[in-house]
Amino acid sequence: MKNLRPVGIIGTGKYVPEKILTNSDLEKIVETNDEWIVSRTGIRERHIAAPDEATSDLAYEASIRALASAGLKPEELDLIIVATITPDTIFPSTACVLQDKLGAKGAAAFDLSAACSGFVYSLATAVGFIQNGMYNNALIIGADTLSRITDYTDRNTCVLFGDGAGAVVIGEVPKGRGFQSFDLGAEGAGGPLLKLEGGGSRLPATVETVEGKKHFIYMNGREVFKFAVRVMGAATEKVLGKAGLAKEDIDLFIPHQANIRIIQSAMQRLDLPPEKCVINVDKYANTSAASIPLALVEAAEEGRMKEGDTVLMVGFGGGLTWGASILVW
Ligand SMILES: CC(C)(COP(=O)(O)OP(=O)(O)OC[C@H]1O[C@@H](n2cnc3c(N)ncnc32)[C@H](O)[C@@H]1OP(=O)(O)O)[C@@H](O)C(=O)NCCC(=O)NCCS
Repeated sequence: MKNLRPVGIIGTGKYVPEKILTNSDLEKIVETNDEWIVSRTGIRERHIAAPDEATSDLAYEASIRALASAGLKPEELDLIIVATITPDTIFPSTACVLQDKLGAKGAAAFDLSAACSGFVYSLATAVGFIQNGMYNNALIIGADTLSRITDYTDRNTCVLFGDGAGAVVIGEVPKGRGFQSFDLGAEGAGGPLLKLEGGGSRLPATVETVEGKKHFIYMNGREVFKFAVRVMGAATEKVLGKAGLAKEDIDLFIPHQANIRIIQSAMQRLDLPPEKCVINVDKYANTSAASIPLALVEAAEEGRMKEGDTVLMVGFGGGLTWGASILVW
């Protein structure tokens, strides 16, 4: 990627709904406790969308902040990609709903479905469009309202998820900065380990699918955990190699925020001290496609990245999928 037009992040924004659901709130809903949740996951609380808030609303709030920080008007946007598995509706896409809300007239708009890897997948897609000259800029949003597809009687999953949105505007940046490499991948055979079966063309919504809880997330936590640890390591090594870098070159590590134990195993493998890792799983839980951008935007807002810093992002999720990227800030 080094001889191509340099593309990087020129604006950032985030949004989480106001309502907070703590571990002690969950103790009143299912058979669980704060000690179990904190020790097994690192999660203390999560944000939950209001009844009248849908994914495009979360995405809108994050987007207007990202556009303001980039100094770009909505009508100047060329492309909008929303990474999500909880679109407002099956169609039209959430990106089209957002395009209209923003007033980004004429911008191309589509959703991308790669679960928790969706933000990195979307970045790679948009960077390609800008590098090949088709577009000059893009708004990329990772937004999910997982509370709408979470079964709050299932303690195996309901403690893990939250709602939120993170957005970035990308465009041309000075030489030497921007995205240096990507590694995307999938293992479709592992799809049944993490899924939502109902409401698609295989199993359209019926009274039976609703009664059978087919419109909620199903997850085999132990197997997904093993997959996550394996691919975080492999994708990290690959994306560093593609950029011609070593683990010592990483200034900031931004992993998908699913479970503190998965993050710690990746940090150990990379020999990274805590100050080089962004962790906010305690505050937001797993927000799927919003997880990496929420962490990235928060790190930017806290001034944790200096110009020229090497940032490594890596995520994994349903599909099964993974995605990693090296960015020079
Ligand atoms: C889900 C996860 C936190 C479970 O942690 P774990 O240490 O693997 O726990 P186990 O599955 O071994 O379950 C241990 C016990 O805790 C129980 N348990 C599960 N959820 C619980 C909860 N919320 N509160 C209390 N106990 C719970 C289980 O029933 C099990 O009891 P048992 O041994 O009597 O059957 C962990 O597997 C995980 O994070 N997996 C990856 C999930 C993920 O990242 N998903 C999203 C991908 S994008």
